[in-house]
Amino acid sequence: MAIYNFLRVCLNKFLNTTPTLGGFVVRNFRVHYPRTIYFGIFMEVIIRPGSELAAHLAAEIIGRELRANPRLVLGLATGCTMDAVYARLIQMHREEKLDFSSCRTFNLDEYVGLSGDNPNSYRYYMDHHLFLHVNIDMKNTHLPDGMAADLGAECEKYEQSIKECGGIDLQILGIGQNGHIGFNEPLSAFRSRTRKQALSPVTREQNATLFTDPDEVPHSAITMGVGTILDCRRCVLLATGEEKAAIVSQAIEGPMTSTISASALQLHSECTVILDRQASSKLKNHYHWMANGHKKPEVMLDWQNSLHLAANIPECRSNDCSGPLGERRAKEI
Ligand code: GLP
Repeated sequence: MAIYNFLRVCLNKFLNTTPTLGGFVVRNFRVHYPRTIYFGIFMEVIIRPGSELAAHLAAEIIGRELRANPRLVLGLATGCTMDAVYARLIQMHREEKLDFSSCRTFNLDEYVGLSGDNPNSYRYYMDHHLFLHVNIDMKNTHLPDGMAADLGAECEKYEQSIKECGGIDLQILGIGQNGHIGFNEPLSAFRSRTRKQALSPVTREQNATLFTDPDEVPHSAITMGVGTILDCRRCVLLATGEEKAAIVSQAIEGPMTSTISASALQLHSECTVILDRQASSKLKNHYHWMANGHKKPEVMLDWQNSLHLAANIPECRSNDCSGPLGERRAKEI
């Protein structure tokens, strides 16, 4: 089996294709910095010791992609998990001159019925958590219009705008307690596109904490579909905190199912999941070993089937995610 895997990887490297478990898929070539050939074989799972470090790593990935391609088409997410990512990006803009001037952004979703000046709208969130603090051209920032008179037409227009920009290069994702990505509630089809989506009671309750009156939480939203998300060239899902641990384990290790939209990311050939220790605490298999820093050689032997770390991210070369595998990867790059 090990020899078979080795030969398959070599052959794929030679053919410039991305290997999948089932066979070969021609790689979508838009590589802006040295990429690992392991993408396409495994979902990349990176466990950081704390939520801040996890968020910083997500920001670091965005920063790298943006420096490599100033006209990056960036997919953005909202939610408390993202606060630290955007704070770090603002810091990178101020201290390291990270330039957003040519970047285009598309957000995952927006509440139906909330205008951009409503503090609970996602447009308001994005303006105040990121856009107004960096040198982005507001014309290049896109969110669905939840106030549109014709919501169906608005959804089609949103898909069209993404296409006209050449597709999303990098999509940042959070995860809801019920496994939603964007607002793709349970039973969203894996091929779904941008559309109006009714919000489940769990989601309305979860998001009510940000509203003064829980009854004000809209009953529906416009969201990119699961299919729209799977079309993005690279996905990075960030989840932190113990309350996300159970759903994270189902999404990563469980079977793919439309009842957990995030599990569809197992189909993506370039998906990185960044977790803090707490969010990783319910992973059943080898990820758990890495989270606790146990070094079990027998697990290492099996790493090809379960885990790979992004040692090409400088932060990740530190003690917490080095170990034999990390060191080996770091040397490879
Ligand atoms: C909302 C958003 C999702 C986000 C989720 C998680 O429901 N539509 O895109 O992933 O919140 O929010 P938090 O980060 O606050 O847990």
